[in-house]
Amino acid sequence: MIVTKAVIVAAGLGTRMLPASKVIPKEILPVIDTPAIQVVVEEAVASGIRDIYVVVAPGRTIVLDHFKPAIELEAMLEERGKLEILESVRRINTIAQFTAVEQAKPLGLGHAVLQARDVIGAEPFALMLPDDIFDCPRPCLAQLIEAAEANDAPVVALLQVARSEIPKYGIVETKPSRSRLYELTGMVEKPAIDKAPSDLAIMGRYVLTPEIFDLLATAKPGAGGEIQLTDALMALARRRKLYGYRFEGVRYDFGDKVGFIAAQVGFGLKRPDLADRLRAYLQTLLAS
Ligand code: G1P
Repeated sequence: MIVTKAVIVAAGLGTRMLPASKVIPKEILPVIDTPAIQVVVEEAVASGIRDIYVVVAPGRTIVLDHFKPAIELEAMLEERGKLEILESVRRINTIAQFTAVEQAKPLGLGHAVLQARDVIGAEPFALMLPDDIFDCPRPCLAQLIEAAEANDAPVVALLQVARSEIPKYGIVETKPSRSRLYELTGMVEKPAIDKAPSDLAIMGRYVLTPEIFDLLATAKPGAGGEIQLTDALMALARRRKLYGYRFEGVRYDFGDKVGFIAAQVGFGLKRPDLADRLRAYLQTLLAS
């Protein structure tokens, strides 16, 4: 299996981040100075993918405008000799190849993924949800792709979560494993804590095979009345081996207010141009 395409689902209503997401899609909200969508695209590119399909709500192609040249801005930066910034702005236009895919109605994550069926065709593909932002020694998606290619099978990202967090996620049932790779035997979307098969939650990175589209096309509405990707994955697991990979690294829930702040602080403390000032500020804050 060779993965060359990625689907990024950026079609949510962003209700958890209102009013910030009223006019601009939440995927444009920044991690410090970089829109979340760019952070996700950079992860895809660093994982060897340059062919990117972005599922958007009708009219919300502004998410993709970020990757188009900004001719006047670039000319002005050049005129003013701000060459380093110019270089970083220009780089964004060339890092990958983008195609917008519209989801006419917000009928669920599974339905959003199904909209990419025609553009993906009969190939395996990566699926990335920009609510999950990763800071990993090797890109999270690269870790999954390696596992998927080595096992010639679809793979989902897994993270062990606190019991109280279980109802927020798809939770998997696995065969015992001594490594980061788990064979999945079941999964359930947003279970009650006492009904959950484990504390391993699916995070928003997947390597999928095209059979998923048939399963999504026939899926009945599940949790929350939406077409759920997790239900189609469960059906996939009945047909072929499906794995989970407990990735190495940190994940931020960028759609959650505290997760959003944590991402700013976490990434800020790793930025050479910001870390010292930010650390000093946090120390004063905690001391007071
Ligand atoms: C979606 C998936 C869920 C997964 C989560 C990861 O849920 O349906 O299985 O655990 O992403 O972030 P959502 O966050 O869209 O409710």
